[in-house]
Amino acid sequence: MNRIKLLGEKIPDQVKRLLIPVLVVIAAFVVMRHILVPSDFGKYGHYRASAIDEVASREIKYSGHKACEDCHDDVVEMKKMSYHRDVTCEACHGPAAAHTQDPDGNQLPAPKGRGYCPLCHEYLPSRPTGFPQIVTESHNPMKPCISCHDAHDPKLPYLPKECEACHAEIARTKALSHHVYLSCTRCHETPEEHKVRPRDYHPDKPSTREFCGECHAEEAPAPKEITRIDMATHGEGYVCWQCHYPHLPEVH
Ligand code: HEC
Ligand code: HEC
Ligand code: HEC
Ligand code: HEC
Ligand code: HEC
Ligand code: HEC
Ligand code: HEC
Ligand code: HEC
Repeated sequence: MNRIKLLGEKIPDQVKRLLIPVLVVIAAFVVMRHILVPSDFGKYGHYRASAIDEVASREIKYSGHKACEDCHDDVVEMKKMSYHRDVTCEACHGPAAAHTQDPDGNQLPAPKGRGYCPLCHEYLPSRPTGFPQIVTESHNPMKPCISCHDAHDPKLPYLPKECEACHAEIARTKALSHHVYLSCTRCHETPEEHKVRPRDYHPDKPSTREFCGECHAEEAPAPKEITRIDMATHGEGYVCWQCHYPHLPEVH
């Protein structure tokens, strides 16, 4: 007893002062618990019991994709086997509860333009590698996506060719450039093994100015439509790709 009392006497002033805010907080908590917290809070769990009725009374807007099967089994069947099997109907067509009740009175929109599909397919570094992505600006511009890909069974209109299968970005860039008709292997001599073990076998890369000069030098024996430069003075001292990206060489 004596010891405790002694200790009590020794409690420093600043600790006693600290007790005041602690008591204020406890008092505030008790007051708020009774005034601010709704009375039905905690009846079933850590939420208001009446929230259930409120949510349940909201208008139902989505019907779920099972509802579509009754009337659109052809589309449902097709999509089931496709790359879009995990994309629900309403992700593209919007909330369809009203439509399923009265199809003729409530037509559904369909995303026919180029704006919608890129929400999932636009290239983003954070998307998993391997997820099919495009750069909308350069991927077959102007035409609607659905003119080449069926939205319910999206496929590639043709299988990518050899180099394009792994270097799609470069292939697409080149497809829009002045070098469109140059094959990859004109500039990169590629061992067959590269296509199987790309990291162990590397293709060649041009290493000199003279390589580009084979077509662009004034005296080069290439077709005369090709723009010529004076190799002696043009970009003197630097390799050409210091200034021209070889897969999109034009200077804008
Ligand atoms: C009770 C039958 C029924 C159900 C259920 C139903 N639809 Fe329909 N749907 C129709 C009919 C009938 C039409 C044709 C309406 C018309 O031409 O005006 C139609 C048309 C459509 C169209 C085309 C609209 C257009 O302008 O071409 C889309 C898209 C569509 N439905 C999507 C859905 C989706 C998604 C679901 C499931 C969430 C669904 N439907 C459920 C009967 C149904
Ligand atoms: C990736 C987006 C996407 C998904 C998912 C999708 N649709 Fe469509 N749907 C479209 C587009 C785009 C059109 C317009 C096609 C056109 O006009 O050529 C369309 C057209 C339709 C049509 C009109 C006629 C037709 O058959 O082409 C119906 C009906 C339809 N969709 C039903 C469905 C149903 C049912 C589902 C789910 C099983 C579904 N859609 C899933 C994008 C989608
Ligand atoms: C809600 C997201 C979503 C939307 C919207 C969407 N897609 Fe897809 N798409 C996917 C998923 C998921 C896959 C399958 C990816 C996989 O298998 O790894 C896919 C796959 C594809 C593929 C790849 C097929 C292949 O052979 O690799 C194409 C092409 C495609 N979608 C086109 C479209 C088009 C055109 C539209 C618009 C009408 C569209 N997508 C809208 C999610 C979406
Ligand atoms: C003129 C036809 C055409 C149009 C229009 C078109 N595509 Fe493609 N798409 C292709 C071809 C061909 C390929 C395969 C070769 C390639 O990757 O470029 C492809 C590939 C794809 C891929 C797979 C890419 C990969 O690397 O796996 C996706 C996703 C895709 N397209 C989505 C779209 C979307 C979204 C649109 C609309 C913004 C669209 N496409 C418009 C022809 C088209
Ligand atoms: C199976 C996929 C695949 C195919 C097919 C493929 N490549 Fe590659 N390529 C790669 C990978 C992966 C790398 C990166 C290698 C590394 O970093 O070691 C690469 C690297 C390269 C390089 C850079 C080498 C360097 O030293 O920096 C060139 C050039 C190249 N590829 C050209 C081509 C050409 C041309 C073709 C078609 C004849 C082709 N590739 C086909 C996967 C492929
Ligand atoms: C006009 C000649 C030319 C053509 C055609 C060409 N390349 Fe290249 N490529 C180059 C040059 C030059 C470099 C850069 C060399 C350096 O930086 O050391 C390069 C670099 C590369 C690299 C290394 C990574 C990078 O982006 O710099 C890859 C991969 C590659 N090319 C692949 C391809 C593929 C695939 C094709 C066909 C679609 C192709 N190239 C067509 C000249 C060309
Ligand atoms: C096999 C021949 C060939 C080779 C090798 C070649 N090019 Fe080209 N280049 C062409 C053709 C064909 C064109 C399109 C016609 C034109 O615009 O001159 C072109 C266009 C260009 C243009 C655009 C000219 C303009 O009018 O705007 C530039 C820049 C260019 N090439 C740079 C290069 C560079 C850099 C290299 C080396 C990495 C290279 N080229 C290698 C054939 C070639
Ligand atoms: C120091 C930067 C630089 C270097 C290095 C360079 N270029 Fe250029 N190139 C330019 C610029 C800037 C232009 C556009 C202005 C001009 O016509 O001079 C151009 C234009 C061109 C054109 C188009 C000429 C025309 O009349 O339209 C061709 C073809 C070309 N370059 C090829 C090459 C080749 C091949 C090499 C390597 C031997 C090379 N360039 C090295 C900067 C460079």
